Amino acid sequence: MGILDGEVAVVTGAGHGVGRGHAVQLAEAGAKVVVNDLGGSTRGEGADETVAQTVVDVIVERGGEAVADASDVSSWDGSKAMIDKAVGTFGGLDIVVNNAGILRDKMIFNMDESDWDAVIAVHMKGHFNPTRHACAYWRDKSKQIGRPVNASLVHTSSSVGLLGNVGQANYAAAKGGIAMFSIAVAHDMERYGVRSNCVAPSGSTRLLPAASERVVEPDEYEQYSPRDPGNVGPLVVWLASDLSSNVSGQMFLSIGGTVTRFDPWKPAQAVTVPGNNRRWQPAELGQAMDQLVFGTRHSGLWSGAAFGGYSPLTRAVEER
Ligand SMILES: NC(=O)c1ccc[n+]([C@@H]2O[C@H](COP(=O)([O-])OP(=O)(O)OC[C@H]3O[C@@H](n4cnc5c(N)ncnc54)[C@H](O)[C@@H]3O)[C@@H](O)[C@H]2O)c1
Repeated sequence: MGILDGEVAVVTGAGHGVGRGHAVQLAEAGAKVVVNDLGGSTRGEGADETVAQTVVDVIVERGGEAVADASDVSSWDGSKAMIDKAVGTFGGLDIVVNNAGILRDKMIFNMDESDWDAVIAVHMKGHFNPTRHACAYWRDKSKQIGRPVNASLVHTSSSVGLLGNVGQANYAAAKGGIAMFSIAVAHDMERYGVRSNCVAPSGSTRLLPAASERVVEPDEYEQYSPRDPGNVGPLVVWLASDLSSNVSGQMFLSIGGTVTRFDPWKPAQAVTVPGNNRRWQPAELGQAMDQLVFGTRHSGLWSGAAFGGYSPLTRAVEER
């Protein structure tokens, strides 16, 4: 018996890397999986239908059930077809893992409009589209059965979306937006029995390769490696399952064998004008702000040590 026996899952961008690990491990836990992947380049160019099918073959060879889907998640209609495929093929839908992603890193002063649009489309709209169609399905189903459904959404942010990074303004904007999107959706869907959580994954993939290493897909690792993108899979399987039925609106960073819960944006400290019956003057505010801003600065929070010296945050982004 797997903890996801009888469940139906969609995983976007499951042809390579982190999403491939999710799809294989969800299937190993008993879920029937729609393996979505457009099959394009890491910059989001081109398409290849065989990429999703390759992962379906891995799942089937290991005794699981899966079907391939080559939809583009940035397409409203493509995402609808993908959600419909889950319901049409497997008779329902319980889990959606939004994971598909691309990169177009550039310093802000060199970033083209197309670099911005492509990254926002695949990540942000590519989270909205499947989520929107799945939530409409779950709301209808909840009304039909007269009670909340039991479903789970897992979204994919990044340490870059939570902490920022050089050369990734487009990606940071999209990933930070996804973290907040997840919380907003958790509020919208609570009454219908749908949980919404977010992960910031890690792993050496074709998108974020560790220097001078051949990219190894998660199902090819024979022993534990801190660089295996499949290390995120257990967290996603847990979030997809009833084991986390009281968890929604949460953000987790997963690196190697460590899971870190992140708090969302929240008030840190405040300064109030003396007397509290007027607005600040800029000069006096300046003195108070010194304490507010520089009195609370953190440093050295992320060293990469937890990930064998490799960290997405310490990855150098050259000016281009
Ligand atoms: N690898 C890391 O360390 C890391 C760190 C933080 C966040 N992430 C995020 O994890 C996710 C997976 O990244 P990865 O490192 O496994 O990269 P990857 O390139 O190995 O996998 C991403 C997959 O998404 C697919 N894809 C891209 N655009 C698509 C579209 N429009 N429709 C459908 N599929 C599409 C690609 O074909 C690819 O197979 C991304 O959202 C990425 O931003 C990864």
